[in-house]
Amino acid sequence: MTRGPHLRSGLLVLLLGSALSLGSNFASITGNEDSYFYLVQSPDFGPVRLGAGTYERSLLSCVTMCVTKFHDCYSVMYNSVTHLCTPGGASDNTNAPPASWEGKLYKRITCDFGSGEFSVVAHGNEAVCIGVFLDWVNYTSADASCKEKDSHLMTVKSLDRLAIVQNISNTTGEFFWLGCNDIMEEGTFVWADNGQVVTDDEKLKYFGEGEPNDMGGNEDCCMFVWGMMMLNDGFCLDEMAYICEKRWT
Ligand SMILES: *[C@@H]1O[C@H](CO)[C@@H](O)[C@H](O)[C@H]1NC(C)=O
Ligand SMILES: *[C@@H]1O[C@H](CO)[C@@H](O)[C@H](O)[C@H]1NC(C)=O
Ligand SMILES: *[C@@H]1O[C@H](CO)[C@@H](O)[C@H](O)[C@H]1NC(C)=O
Repeated sequence: MTRGPHLRSGLLVLLLGSALSLGSNFASITGNEDSYFYLVQSPDFGPVRLGAGTYERSLLSCVTMCVTKFHDCYSVMYNSVTHLCTPGGASDNTNAPPASWEGKLYKRITCDFGSGEFSVVAHGNEAVCIGVFLDWVNYTSADASCKEKDSHLMTVKSLDRLAIVQNISNTTGEFFWLGCNDIMEEGTFVWADNGQVVTDDEKLKYFGEGEPNDMGGNEDCCMFVWGMMMLNDGFCLDEMAYICEKRWT
């Protein structure tokens, strides 16, 4: 297994751009510089229509047209049969969802690639903007490091997110700090992105069997365990790699 220290500056940038179009329900995500457009399944409402539709030969050319012509392009609607491409702004509940002739709604998400530390990783119905850091630090340092990068330790609130971390752990052979802990109140784990309580259902789905168990009365920080390939509560002063996640903009 490749361990962190062998890698340049302890940082692994997963170059998964090409993986975005492979083998997932997220297949329709389309790269355009630092933005991605992903298919919104059964949207409740739609975007501001920024202009009349044009005919574009592919989703990629539709997306390219939209971002080139409209600085406030945050979505497109694309009909892959008629090739009608409608440029869209932000979605809000005052706008109708795409009509059948408008096709499907693709929403723009941007991952801040400026530093070169973050990239988009997609699996199933999830795409996350994450940075994988292979320097070994304790939980407090990992948490602080993510915050310095305008991010938080990655949360795992879906099986698709779990699969993303499993794959990264499988590829790197590393354990990772992830974004939850019960430091404030023993027994009540909260997610690092918004302070939501980790539910029993989430514990069953994402943690190893019988975890979190506060072994030795001293395990308050969420980690991903290589081998077990699930989450566990770990000793916060242990040192390991970590994954930071940025909010989509
Ligand atoms: C975590 O690691 C940092 C950097 O090595 C260290 O300064 C800090 O004291 C450690 N945290 C705790 C709670 O020991
Ligand atoms: C890890 O990788 C091995 C071999 O590459 C593969 O057989 C296995 O399914 C992977 N496990 C996970 C959880 O991704
Ligand atoms: C797992 O990671 C590898 C290498 O980073 C990537 O090529 C592959 O597409 C990933 N697979 C999944 C299911 O995410």
